[in-house]
Amino acid sequence: VFNSVQQLPPDALFNLKARLSKDPRPLKVDLGIGAYRDNNGKPWVLPSVVKAEKLITSDPNYNHEYLGISGLPQLTKAAAKTIIGHANFDHDRIISVQSLSGTGALHIASKFLSIIPTTKSKTVYISDPTWINHVNIFENEGFKVEKYPYWDYENKCLNFDAMLSYFQSIENGGIILLHACAHNPTGMDPTETQWRQILDVMHEKDHFVLFDSAYQGFASGSLEKDAFAIRLAVNEKLRDSCLLICQSFAKNVGMYGERVGCFHVVLPEGGNPSVSTSVLSQLNKITRSEVSNPPAYGAKIVSTILTNEELTNQWHKDLITMSGRIKEMRYKLRDHLVTLKTPGNWDHIVQQCGMFSFTGLNSEMAQRLEKKHAVYITGNGRASIAGLNEGNVEYVAKAIDEVVRH
Ligand code: LMR
Repeated sequence: VFNSVQQLPPDALFNLKARLSKDPRPLKVDLGIGAYRDNNGKPWVLPSVVKAEKLITSDPNYNHEYLGISGLPQLTKAAAKTIIGHANFDHDRIISVQSLSGTGALHIASKFLSIIPTTKSKTVYISDPTWINHVNIFENEGFKVEKYPYWDYENKCLNFDAMLSYFQSIENGGIILLHACAHNPTGMDPTETQWRQILDVMHEKDHFVLFDSAYQGFASGSLEKDAFAIRLAVNEKLRDSCLLICQSFAKNVGMYGERVGCFHVVLPEGGNPSVSTSVLSQLNKITRSEVSNPPAYGAKIVSTILTNEELTNQWHKDLITMSGRIKEMRYKLRDHLVTLKTPGNWDHIVQQCGMFSFTGLNSEMAQRLEKKHAVYITGNGRASIAGLNEGNVEYVAKAIDEVVRH
């Protein structure tokens, strides 16, 4: 019965991780998967997380009971405030459920859109390039997925005019997936002025916006700045529309393996309040049938951080530590390449933000980096800058120099 099952290629990112862990070379450098590393190249448990865990486990009522189907209410409420902000927003407009990190939120989004008659058979538009899982998730749910121009491969910058004209040219009411900040893989975000223009077109064309927010706090170190596009949409440009937000705490709280995230449906200002109850009932049905109820431990950690002032302040410092170190590494890498006179211009490395640099290295160069130098980046030239540190950045620059000249 399974003879006809087609064998699929392994997942590119997790396969890279597997190759890396088998690589015996002591100098190997992991610039593959987007996970923060400290200056010794080690995973970092955020100090705010350490404190939150102590608080949780020392509570006399600590237990491992089930959460409700929508997740931990303290988490979903605080997460909504973190992404939308406290001021000028009527939080009754938002319906939030806990998800299995950002991927789980996107999955709920795809399921939810597939049961709404007005969005069911629509095309989902994703950026060119984007995080590979965007394609998997929406195609699995039967959506047609099209790419909108985003990256100017030749000049290594945003292809803004082409993107905007594309949004203007497609049929009204398209589902548009936008990266809220720290675009994966390019690390290049629209400016605030460009966001205004993008959201104006979304409004004019009645496009349906889905924000993927996986890196809030990683682009600039500020939660507020990194939520600029979302807040502009919900408070101003798209306040008469529905929109969706997929929120991950994998990167910004370092909850990679705990799978903590939220899915938010934002309703138009002054909308019908009974819609909230119906929407929530559908989201709960999706969660109940797939995971029954979301996992509790990571949710307790994140909600403790978001609701305890001392821990929230510590978390803000942790975000500065992570985003600041990454930024420093961007400059070091660029400067080493300049000193080595590596052919090409490397300024895009410092213009990009968040976890990644879309280096411009092609797939042959990426392969040579791995084979000859044990430096692992993805085949599309994406390097996780978080994997660089004082001890390896010069080595990586020399390796890049060698593959570029080869
Ligand atoms: C990445 O892009 O490296 C991360 O988002 C990890 C993942 O799940 O793909």
